[in-house]
Amino acid sequence: MNKDPHKDSNTAPTGTVRAYHQRTKHQFERYAEGPGSLDWDAQPDPFRTWAGTRWYGLPRQTPARQIAWSALAAQRAPEPFDTDNLSACLRLCVAITAWKEYAGNRWALRAHPSSGNLHPTETWVIAYWVDGLADGLYHYQCRDHSLEWRASSVTASNQPGLWLGFSSITWREAWKYGERAFRYCQLDMGHVLAAVAHAAALFGWQARLVSLPPEAVAHCLGTDRAEDYAGVEAEEADVIVALHAGESRDVLFPPLNWDEWSGVPSLLDPRPLYQWPVIDEVAAASRGPLPVFHQTEVDRPAPEARADELAATRVLLQRRSAQAFDGGSILPAPVFRRILASLLPTGAGPVWRMWQATPRVHPVLLAHRVEGLPAGLYILPRSESGLTGLGAALRQEFEWASADAELPLYRLISARAERTARNLSCHQDIAAMSAFTLMFIAEFDAPIDADPAAYRHLHWEAGMLGHCATLEAEAAGWRGTGIGCFFDDAVHEVLGLTDTRWQVIYHYAIGMPVDDARLLTLPAYA
Ligand SMILES: Cc1cc2nc3c(=O)[nH]c(=O)nc-3n(C[C@H](O)[C@H](O)[C@H](O)COP(=O)(O)O)c2cc1C
Repeated sequence: MNKDPHKDSNTAPTGTVRAYHQRTKHQFERYAEGPGSLDWDAQPDPFRTWAGTRWYGLPRQTPARQIAWSALAAQRAPEPFDTDNLSACLRLCVAITAWKEYAGNRWALRAHPSSGNLHPTETWVIAYWVDGLADGLYHYQCRDHSLEWRASSVTASNQPGLWLGFSSITWREAWKYGERAFRYCQLDMGHVLAAVAHAAALFGWQARLVSLPPEAVAHCLGTDRAEDYAGVEAEEADVIVALHAGESRDVLFPPLNWDEWSGVPSLLDPRPLYQWPVIDEVAAASRGPLPVFHQTEVDRPAPEARADELAATRVLLQRRSAQAFDGGSILPAPVFRRILASLLPTGAGPVWRMWQATPRVHPVLLAHRVEGLPAGLYILPRSESGLTGLGAALRQEFEWASADAELPLYRLISARAERTARNLSCHQDIAAMSAFTLMFIAEFDAPIDADPAAYRHLHWEAGMLGHCATLEAEAAGWRGTGIGCFFDDAVHEVLGLTDTRWQVIYHYAIGMPVDDARLLTLPAYA
């Protein structure tokens, strides 16, 4: 009898997560379940507002910090917690960075990318002793770069603190992408976390994830207040990040209880046409603790400045996803190596200082046009156990030839792979016209069996990897684009993966962008 090994545990959280992943795979012959048609005029509002509460406009000037991109992670004296610095930090990670206009349509772009530009992630600010701001919990309103007061506590904290909290409105993604949307919300969350770590580093602040049970995160952000959300789209609490101004090893906890609440959330979609109950099911099944983080202090020597380097603020503000690549430019070897180095957990980059967990996600590359690198399939295992595990799991005929003197880069096969890249990435040209396309392969069964919450965290890790790659490319005049649409099992077949011990969870293409001159670019905040 051909027995489904997951069937018996389908009602347990692990079974729910595994079943969700399986049913939301895109196949050549069938895409994951989604809406049959879309009415773009009925897109859910990308901006949630909180009415009937106090509103604080944040300073609007563009952050001007003359720190070179390569010096972003260097040690520097922390800036004070005040509204100017908070405002500038938000501008660099979660704010609008430009409006685009074409044929009478306008849409906002933000400092971090988002699947379908739908932006499910909401940002919360918890401020204690931040100069110029009353203590409390605020919703960050990125449309006009302001704070909407949400809650306060009479039990004053005895120490200054600044935290950013995040929640996801999954309906914003599900509206377009149907059942697969939960994956995209998690990948987006990873991008946001990486954006926060980069922005905070510029102020000498360290971003640290606060290990709280999921219900405590929801309670702290107020997303568990069913009475407040009655009749509007729910928010799924994700995580709280402490911004540390000192070198304290203990992560500072935010206040978990508030005495006074205020504000009414807006409805984003008055006429939802579809319902995707599996999203709520997988969200519930994957609520759980964060991975264990080591807090090792890594050396952060002052880097050698490179000639004609961009300022870090400029890189963060100008980041965009390429809509097309030129399919001809050769990526210089030093840029390629810097992009790969930014993905390794051993570096001093701000993302991996924040996410000091065992690496579970490893990039496989389809290299098309990289200086000095024969076209082919490559792999960059991010840990010794990744190297061993993937060595055993991948197709036995792969070469595993060392392809770099310093980086753990191995060639698996030499071959032109543009068509494969396009086919695997839902037939999207960007995967073929790039200089190289990454496929992020996650260790899957073991972490999810240990704790289904790993399903979220694997996607966060992949989102963070994509973000590191894209920023490093952007800094060198190249560009990246996330690819959430790929044929899961076709990728597994190419790699020789025959079970679910390893699964592909994200693609990312890096190349020389071709800009669409028809689009008008307008300033973020007038
Ligand atoms: C998780 C994720 C998946 C994405 N998937 C695709 C994709 O499959 N194809 C594509 O062309 N762009 C994809 N994108 C890029 C988004 O369309 C882009 O981020 C969005 O339009 C906003 O534009 P911006 O990144 O320039 O701000 C993806 C982005 C993310 C974060």
